[in-house]
Amino acid sequence: MSGFIMNKSQNFFSALLIALIIPLLSACNPSTDSAFEDNAEPPLAGAKIGGSFSLTNQDGGKTSDSDLKGQYRIIYFGYSYCPDVCPVDLQRVMQGLVKAEKEEPELAKKIQPLFVTIDPERDGPEQLKQYVSAFHPRLIGLTGTADEIADVAKKYLILYDKRETEGMSEYLMDHSRQAYLFGPNGEPLALLPYEGTPDEIASEIQRWVS
Ligand code: NI
Repeated sequence: MSGFIMNKSQNFFSALLIALIIPLLSACNPSTDSAFEDNAEPPLAGAKIGGSFSLTNQDGGKTSDSDLKGQYRIIYFGYSYCPDVCPVDLQRVMQGLVKAEKEEPELAKKIQPLFVTIDPERDGPEQLKQYVSAFHPRLIGLTGTADEIADVAKKYLILYDKRETEGMSEYLMDHSRQAYLFGPNGEPLALLPYEGTPDEIASEIQRWVS
């Protein structure tokens, strides 16, 4: 299960995300003039989201932000045991990427999709390897120590928390739901519309990747 976790200490992050999301929604308004759209800045341009990381990938090696220099990145945070939201979001976003790849193969080659777990306790490299391969052949799954994941989640404004459910052997994780598009220098560009159709996701990708 996914969702925003609201409490006092996290109001700041929620307010910030809302401030970021509202301009994005208005930019998606179909009545927006196309001449304006051509000149539009990416919705997340200048936002303080992202930063360096060095995490363990699904093959057991290390993947750092510096390894991705020159590549656009689609980044989704979730966990492989998520019963509903993560797999659906990830499937839609990867279908959008596949569509962009078919339409503009040269463009899409510049994009590296990443799945970062917020449940490193269960999502080790082997678990992630099986999981990511179900969504896209180039999707990289990233895990790390609890501290490494906490650090990267903070930088990318992702909140998460374990939810113990009585009578269930497996716990759930509450977590923020964002599909980010970052630029080749690790700068935030846009939030991908994970609830949209593959067409809508592909066109948002194609709009900001050049
Ligand atoms: Ni989830």
